[in-house]
Amino acid sequence: MQINSEEKDMLNGKFGKAIKKSMEIITTLGEIYGAKRLVKVSSVQVAGVSYENLGEAGLEFLDEMAADGRVRVLTTLNPAGMDLENWKYLGIDSEFAKNQIRVIEAFEKMGIISTCTCTPYFIGNIPRFGEHIAWSESSAVCYANSILGARTNREGGPSALAAALTGKTAEYGLHLDKHRIPELTVVVETKISKTYEFGALGKSIGDEVGGKIVYIKGIDDASIEELKSFCASIATYGGTPMFYMEGISPESKIIKIPKEKIKITKENIEKSINELNDESEVDFISIGCPHCSIKEIAKIADLLKGKKVNKELWITVARPIKEIADRMGYSKIIKSSGAKLACDTCCVVAPIKGRFKTLCTDSAKGCYYARGKNKFNTRLNSIEKCIEEALN
Ligand code: F3S
Repeated sequence: MQINSEEKDMLNGKFGKAIKKSMEIITTLGEIYGAKRLVKVSSVQVAGVSYENLGEAGLEFLDEMAADGRVRVLTTLNPAGMDLENWKYLGIDSEFAKNQIRVIEAFEKMGIISTCTCTPYFIGNIPRFGEHIAWSESSAVCYANSILGARTNREGGPSALAAALTGKTAEYGLHLDKHRIPELTVVVETKISKTYEFGALGKSIGDEVGGKIVYIKGIDDASIEELKSFCASIATYGGTPMFYMEGISPESKIIKIPKEKIKITKENIEKSINELNDESEVDFISIGCPHCSIKEIAKIADLLKGKKVNKELWITVARPIKEIADRMGYSKIIKSSGAKLACDTCCVVAPIKGRFKTLCTDSAKGCYYARGKNKFNTRLNSIEKCIEEALN
């Protein structure tokens, strides 16, 4: 792999230990995946923020990098294990909180914006079409490649951090046209609406085709919220980092449509929904996986206005979006109902294993991790039904 003189200096330690280590990570990945060179990135999203996942070993690595490493490009953070301001209110213990704050301080020391959201595109980290970026967080990677037309591989936390500190990534995988070619056409033969149905569609396609890049036909319209739900789900169930949706993905008009086809029918969608619905009494409701948009918060406030919830309800959101909700009075309505607006975290990365029995959510991705990580039963439903469940 060819590297220029600045990159060589980074590798040789001229810019300090953190940059040296970062360049080692990037060039090693480049060698493994056959990259010919490095490319500049304009934006980074770092995942692996919850202390629950990082532990002391992860924190030690971050402290080491923070000793002399500073980011060179706009870098934002994925959700942490708790609301950084109101963690007590979510029932987080003080020992965990202390360690989570140490993690955030290490990231902040490196100049990373401690936004703690999986929807960086809602809060100002929004790359333009064709830009090379280095994002971790599978749902955001899928959104960036498929909806924004930016170019990123599905980075891990350390490789994303390395890209942030050097401003570079190795040019392989989805940075190259030849790896962004769809292999299969998926014809959706039923009308899909609402976030939970888009999540079910992502599961149906993901279960069927695995990690293949697909070209999807048959979706007439989809809101940003439905697309974020779909991206999260197809990336979770199929492991795919990108797709094309006819008329929606920016490159869908110029890409060659694959001849090989599969169909997704109403029965497929119903099957996916049924598979995520356990016969079990709901005691926890969470909306905001990926984190809610302001439009979703407005809708939830409308549904909760003047009512009281009878079950634990979390609405997870990026802090800047909550600040808009505060200004609009939505937060007050939500809080008065007894529901909790939780920033910086989510029902998957918070340390809540065993605290609840059954999660009801509009997110197919949320169901996957609620079962796998937190051992909850799940119910997948529309936002309206989720709120109804909380009021029950
Ligand atoms: Fe975001 Fe947590 Fe879901 S990080 S995509 S809300 S699992």
